[in-house]
Amino acid sequence: MENRPEPRESRMRVQFSRIHVLAGALLLLLVAALAVPAAAQQAQRNPDGSVNPTASAVHERALLEKLGQIDGRVSIPAQRAGVLEQPFGREWREFHEVTLRIIGAVAILGMLALLVVFYLWRGMVRIEAGRSGRTIVRFNAFERGVHWMTATCFIILALSGLNITFGRVLLLPLMSPETFTAWSQWAKYAHNFLSFPFSLGVVLIFLMWIAGNIPNRVDFQWLKAGGGIVGHEHPPAYRFNAGQKVIYWIVVVGGGLAAASGYLLMFPFYVTDIAGMQAAQMVHSVLAMLFIAAMLGHIYIGTIGMEGAFEAMGTGDVDVNWAKQHHSLWLKEEQARGQAHEPGSRPAATPAE
Ligand code: HEM
Repeated sequence: MENRPEPRESRMRVQFSRIHVLAGALLLLLVAALAVPAAAQQAQRNPDGSVNPTASAVHERALLEKLGQIDGRVSIPAQRAGVLEQPFGREWREFHEVTLRIIGAVAILGMLALLVVFYLWRGMVRIEAGRSGRTIVRFNAFERGVHWMTATCFIILALSGLNITFGRVLLLPLMSPETFTAWSQWAKYAHNFLSFPFSLGVVLIFLMWIAGNIPNRVDFQWLKAGGGIVGHEHPPAYRFNAGQKVIYWIVVVGGGLAAASGYLLMFPFYVTDIAGMQAAQMVHSVLAMLFIAAMLGHIYIGTIGMEGAFEAMGTGDVDVNWAKQHHSLWLKEEQARGQAHEPGSRPAATPAE
């Protein structure tokens, strides 16, 4: 077969038909591009053509369900500012406004109720042999200073912290918004600044009394006998009995965790993201409620719960008969060192270790 060149006319026809196809495809694309926003706009509208204000929220919800979080784009260094919605925020708010208040109320009011009932049933634990008139040094001035510094900070931290949790429901109805704002602002300053001496106090307490607070066999016997508080037995104990050891470890571990979580809150986002902040707040606040409840028990025993106990942290001296009843093994150790003395003939205060 002979290979003849195509006539010029037929080549042009082929080229025209190609341009035709291309133009058709372009037109189709244009129509599709215009149709998508139009359809989207239609979805934003009610059937009568008016704007549906919740339509975008429906899209947002679908997006939130798919992604778990909605972020925008920000041009500042703090990228977390781009978080628009994170569902856990709502759960956290529910925790802060409902669950935490229930936990706090049950722990604190429950403990107060328990102490009232216990006091009515048991009354003050008396020095059964009466006072001997001879005393022994229990805590030196440094130990008492550390105790009272930490305790004072604790009480102010507790009241100022409780104001954050309960202030708006309990105090705001009783005063003007301006008064409540001023009080809350000062309470917040107190909470922030007293955290430092409180932390120092927890560290000093840990170091000062660790030697006497390691659990041992005597503690089990003490607990089995109800500590001489529930029953009327007087189980032997060294310088600190099992009940005091429990309080010591609550202060050291609870105080340490309260401080660590508190500093995370005080210096937000330095070491953690938003989820970490929420977790720190939950740990800090629940811990605080349990800590306050435990300290109410401690304050009870140190004041109206037990005759002669307050003197240990007041003057630093306790009656020898008190020591015999509650810390017989410690008294023997101290007497062997010649520490007991008559009133008025007080030797130089030495730590009762
Ligand atoms: C070093 C120790 C502590 C530090 C650094 C600290 C710090 C903080 C910070 C920054 C907040 C958040 C305040 C806000 O939301 O504006 C807070 C809340 C709170 N703190 Fe502390 N705190 C400490 C110890 C304590 C102690 C010992 C207690 C209890 C006796 C306590 C009880 C509370 C309570 C109840 C809240 C409010 C929780 C809430 O409702 O959100 N704090 N603390």
